[in-house]
Amino acid sequence: MKNTSPPATDDIRQRIWTELQRATVDRHHEWRTPVLATTGLDGLAQARTVVLRAANASTSQLVFFTDSRSPKASELHATPAAAFVFWSKRLNWQLRARVLTKLHSKGDMVESAWERIRQSPAAGDYLAPGPPGSALASCADVATAAHHLAVVVAQVESIDWLELAPEGHRRARLSASTQEWLVP
Ligand SMILES: Cc1cc2nc3c(=O)[nH]c(=O)nc-3n(C[C@H](O)[C@H](O)[C@H](O)COP(=O)(O)O)c2cc1C
Repeated sequence: MKNTSPPATDDIRQRIWTELQRATVDRHHEWRTPVLATTGLDGLAQARTVVLRAANASTSQLVFFTDSRSPKASELHATPAAAFVFWSKRLNWQLRARVLTKLHSKGDMVESAWERIRQSPAAGDYLAPGPPGSALASCADVATAAHHLAVVVAQVESIDWLELAPEGHRRARLSASTQEWLVP
């Protein structure tokens, strides 16, 4: 017989972190490329796509890489609070995660991330001659010798999970110590 009892929010929490972790190793996972929303230096909203590099359920942390000279790096320095939005058509799940970020541009964490990335095509992203978004004299401008990789660790403060389903949508808000069902 089909079990129709509603799942506990604890089960949802576990499934969410399982999917987030999968997204860091599966190139085809839709949650690999969330949108990161920040507060611009002008006080207005900013958003862009990033690649999810790590997800740690036990510490509730998400990690992405960026160029330490990028506008988003300055924005996160000024306002560490940010939000991720993930959508998966396969799961029919939207995840909105409110986070507090810390940007690391030097130290062991950055150097070990650079060791992993330096042989990959993505290395060029962190060797650009100027900050992302700055003008290029020509599109053949050469890369710099030193990398500008920054590792951003985002501490998840709360998660808003929405599941779309024909038999009824479901929504839950999860924080470290609380969990509640919401009207979708
Ligand atoms: C699929 C995809 C993945 C991306 N991944 C990253 C990333 O992991 N880190 C990053 O800094 N920018 C990434 N970008 C580029 C950003 O979306 C953005 O264009 C760039 O970082 C400049 O953003 P900013 O001006 O807000 O700093 C990605 C773009 C796409 C389309």
